[in-house]
Amino acid sequence: MTKDAILIIGARSDIGKAVAHRFAALGHPIQLAARNAESLEADKTDIEVRYGVGVTLHEFDALEVEKHEAFADGLPVLPAVVVSAVGMMGTQEENERNPATAVRVLRSNFEGPASILAVFANRFAERGRGTLVGISSVAGERGRATNYVYGAAKAGFTAYLSGLRNRLATQGVHVVTVLPGFVATQMTEGMDLPAKLTAEPEEVGVAIARAVERKKNVVYVRPIWRLIMLIIRNIPEAVFKRMKI
Ligand SMILES: NC(=O)c1ccc[n+]([C@@H]2O[C@H](COP(=O)([O-])OP(=O)(O)OC[C@H]3O[C@@H](n4cnc5c(N)ncnc54)[C@H](OP(=O)(O)O)[C@@H]3O)[C@@H](O)[C@H]2O)c1
Repeated sequence: MTKDAILIIGARSDIGKAVAHRFAALGHPIQLAARNAESLEADKTDIEVRYGVGVTLHEFDALEVEKHEAFADGLPVLPAVVVSAVGMMGTQEENERNPATAVRVLRSNFEGPASILAVFANRFAERGRGTLVGISSVAGERGRATNYVYGAAKAGFTAYLSGLRNRLATQGVHVVTVLPGFVATQMTEGMDLPAKLTAEPEEVGVAIARAVERKKNVVYVRPIWRLIMLIIRNIPEAVFKRMKI
C-alpha cells in the first residue's frame, strides 16, 4: 500500500534533511521545500535510491507569505504531515545593533512558519486529517540577554502551535511542538556545546517521526531539557536578571 506524503519546509536544514531521511526510511514519499530548491537535487536522488520512495522538490520562501496558498496549490498531493524546519538565529550583537536584522529573525522564526502552517491547518481541517510539526526552541521558554530576539520569535511560534493544537484537536488534525535543546547543525557550528546536551540531527529525525506516530504534543528530543527548562522557567525574575546563562 502506498504511504502518505510528508512535506518538509526548510528542507536544506540539517534537521530537515534528517527528518526527510527518517520518514523516507519508513516508506513515505517526500516533498522537499526550500529556497533554491534545485540545489537539493543530489539529496533527492540519494533519498530515492536509498529508500525507494519518490521525492519532489518545491521552491519555497517562508517570508513570501503572499505566495503560501499558491505554494500549497502547487504540490502534487496534499501531504499527511508538514514539518517546518525553517529558522534563522543571527547573532544577538547584530540583532541589537540593527533593527532590520532583528525583524528578519522575528519573521523567519515566527511569521513565516506560522503563515505556512496556517495554510495547511485549514486544508487539513477540511480533510479531517493531518499532522503539523513545528520546530520551535527551548530558547522561547524564557528570554535571555544572549539570545532574546531569536527566543522571542520562538516563544511566539510555540504559543501559536499551542493554539493551533487546541483549535484543531476536535477536527482530526494533530500538532506537534518540537523544542530541541542544542543540536549539532550549521546553525550552531563553531559554538562550544556540551556533548550530553547536544543531539545529532538524526536523533531529532527519529524523535519527530515517533512523535507524529504517537501523537505527542510537546517533544524535547533529549529528555534532560524538560528538567533544565523547568528549573530555568522557575528562577525568580529578581535572581534571573543578574544571571548570565
Ligand atoms: N541547531 C539547534 O541547536 C537548534 C535548536 C533548537 C531549534 N532549532 C531549530 O531547528 C530548525 C532547523 O535548524 P537547523 O539547526 O537544522 O539549522 P539550519 O541548518 O541553519 O536550518 C535553518 C533552515 O531554515 C531555512 N530558512 C531560513 N529562512 C528561510 C526562509 N525565509 N524561507 C525558507 N527557508 C528558510 C534555511 O534555508 P537556507 O538553506 O536557504 O538558508 C535553513 O535551511 C530551525 O527552526 C531552528 O531554529 C535548532
